Amino acid sequence: MKQAQQHRRSVMRAVVGLAMGALIPMGAAQAADKVKVGLMLPATGTYAALGSAITNGFKLYVEEQGGKLAGAEIEYAAVDDESDPSKATENANRLVVRDRVDALVGTVHSGVALAMARVAKSRDTLFIVPNAGADDLTGSLCSPNLFRTSFTNWQPAYAMGKAAIERGHKTAVTLTWNYAAGQEAVKGFNQAFTEGGGKVLKDLALPFPNVEFQSYLTEIAALKPDAVYVFFAGGGAAKFVRDYAGAGLKASVPLYSSGFLTDGTLEAMGGAGEGLITALHYADGLEVPRDKTFRTAYAAKFGTQPDVYAVQGYDAAQLLHAGLKAVGGDVKKKAEMRKAMREASIDSPRGAFTLSAAHNPVQDIYLRKAEGKVNKVTGIAAKALADPATGCKM
Ligand code: PHB
Repeated sequence: MKQAQQHRRSVMRAVVGLAMGALIPMGAAQAADKVKVGLMLPATGTYAALGSAITNGFKLYVEEQGGKLAGAEIEYAAVDDESDPSKATENANRLVVRDRVDALVGTVHSGVALAMARVAKSRDTLFIVPNAGADDLTGSLCSPNLFRTSFTNWQPAYAMGKAAIERGHKTAVTLTWNYAAGQEAVKGFNQAFTEGGGKVLKDLALPFPNVEFQSYLTEIAALKPDAVYVFFAGGGAAKFVRDYAGAGLKASVPLYSSGFLTDGTLEAMGGAGEGLITALHYADGLEVPRDKTFRTAYAAKFGTQPDVYAVQGYDAAQLLHAGLKAVGGDVKKKAEMRKAMREASIDSPRGAFTLSAAHNPVQDIYLRKAEGKVNKVTGIAAKALADPATGCKM
């Protein structure tokens, strides 16, 4: 009797076990259920609008796939990094250590991104940079876990320097916020400008995110260069361009910049940006079919036209998808996933691009002209431009 009872119990256990097994498959498929993405971006400060465009772009792509990438449901955790490098390590730790995200995505500000890279590397967490251009991220700090869907600060700046020479300018003054992005942009512009026989009269800089430009404009007027090159973005860029025109310089000294100056900011410039020539890896009016569908979907969802930041966010999600596709959504298969990401061709609204060995886009840099509310493409300043990736040993 006792034996028969035991037998019945063990048969029951086996049946229940089998049934559960059928409901919850073991191993890899179980792990593939969810992928947690940590969005660390600015929601406040001079770069707030840039952070929101990146978020919109990323989420738009995921929604277009039905909220899942390669069968894995995408969950989000988010932190406002305030573009403040002094809070960056703590903020990144909140996502990487506390929330245990599978992928860290961010940010706009180069100084913040450099701190994020260290945290992500210490935990071997996948890190996708959808804006910050710090050259070192895909240079001396390049790493198997780190990918970028945007640019290096060198790329558009170098292309702009070349174009300034081609436009016949012989002398220039530069002005920027004094942190990695501005310093590296100025270095890239100056390299191309001097290689082309130009002379840089003076490099001027003010602390980020200050917008008291008056004394610098007075100095530029006194130096009388053929051209001015600046790096500014977001709210500060709009203020700078209004002040440049207000000081009467727009009519006398041509102003050039990496295209961040005029992306997403032309409306706030209230006409002061009209005619500005910039160089960037995105532009309005591209003959790229993928761009047309992207812009239609973005405008329908958010009621505004996308800018370069929205594109970089969209492409960050595309790159994550490329990795997840190779592993059937199993984010734990890190090596295979990263290999697929490294080898991916991203069908970007900017035009298709691939990644360099250092994991940075190899891409065309467009010349653009501000017309009304758009940065109209006028040509290509540099074709398939790859960053030199100085110091990268993968
Ligand atoms: C940067 O800090 O790397 C940065 C910020 C804003 C931009 C571009 C680059 O628009």
